[in-house]
Amino acid sequence: NPVNGPDTNICNQPKLLDGTPLPDKCCAPKSSSDIIDYKPPPFTKLRVRPAAHKADKEYIAKYNEALSMMKGLDDTDPRSFKQQADVHCAYCNYGYDQDGYPGVELQVHFNWLFFPFHRWYLYFYERILGKLIGDPDFAIPFWNWDHPDGMTMPAMFTSDPNSDLYDVNRSPKHQPPYGLDLEYNKDNLCKPPKPYKQLVEDNLATMYRQMVSGASQQLLFFGGEYKGGEEPVNQMGTIESTPHNNIHVWSGSEKNPNGEDMGNFYSAGRDPMFYALHGNVDRMWSIWKSLPGKNNRDITDCDWLNSTFLFYDENAQLVRVRVGDCLDTEKLGYVYEQVDLPWLNYKP
Ligand code: C2O
Repeated sequence: NPVNGPDTNICNQPKLLDGTPLPDKCCAPKSSSDIIDYKPPPFTKLRVRPAAHKADKEYIAKYNEALSMMKGLDDTDPRSFKQQADVHCAYCNYGYDQDGYPGVELQVHFNWLFFPFHRWYLYFYERILGKLIGDPDFAIPFWNWDHPDGMTMPAMFTSDPNSDLYDVNRSPKHQPPYGLDLEYNKDNLCKPPKPYKQLVEDNLATMYRQMVSGASQQLLFFGGEYKGGEEPVNQMGTIESTPHNNIHVWSGSEKNPNGEDMGNFYSAGRDPMFYALHGNVDRMWSIWKSLPGKNNRDITDCDWLNSTFLFYDENAQLVRVRVGDCLDTEKLGYVYEQVDLPWLNYKP
């Protein structure tokens, strides 16, 4: 059976992955109208998501304006920044049960729902922002962390503390020009930073391993099977485990008890940089499918294709989306700016 999520009648007290309960519930507000089965609407022009480090002033000002409007919405509006951030808490910190299986937790990490869940999440986040500024072509940026030019926190998020793209709950140590280590973990805290050249070479080797040599089988890349009625499994795909998790921990503040914001699922969506991190995760899915390996294609198991999630769209309508409807970004109306892939032939 597919995983259907969530049961909107149940809102659990969320908890950290180690089971520690979190103080505040984070489920989406109840909908007063019926849930609609979502069909991506027609569009005239593809949105092109730019690499964050290459975005110009005009683009940054536009994103800033859109975010400021989103932050200005009432906290109870499902399109507000507060509610957008809480989507991640509810789906990732056990706020929800699977629809049809009361008491069975819903989890979109550590399994094959990781890529499609986050794709739909960003899709609505982007559409809401575009609608707020009246720009149907607005596209969110991606943090190009697989390219040497993108291996720092992108300047648009860090350079102006008064910007809506800024977040004070980030690692003070890892501000630009400090280089991003794609294999960072807490043990690195006490080690001297690697020389930049070494860091870049190691990062490219990591990308080659996670995208090519280590991702030659579908489920190695996507993550393990997770079906309706089953308790969540713990089989992360290659990109989810590294570098995705490492970038979360590297970005969050080591001064906060749970690495807030980026260093913990429940708080990660409060940092605008989160959506840029995930833009590149999403881009990796598209790139992986374009690589020549015979297994580099989407899963065909109907239980995966028919799994569903609920989101509020840009009109605050609650909609049900299907994994099988998000496989092709062009059908969803967006693509990524083309950037070269220096890791592609980077065999260690
Ligand atoms: Cu839902 Cu980056 O995690």
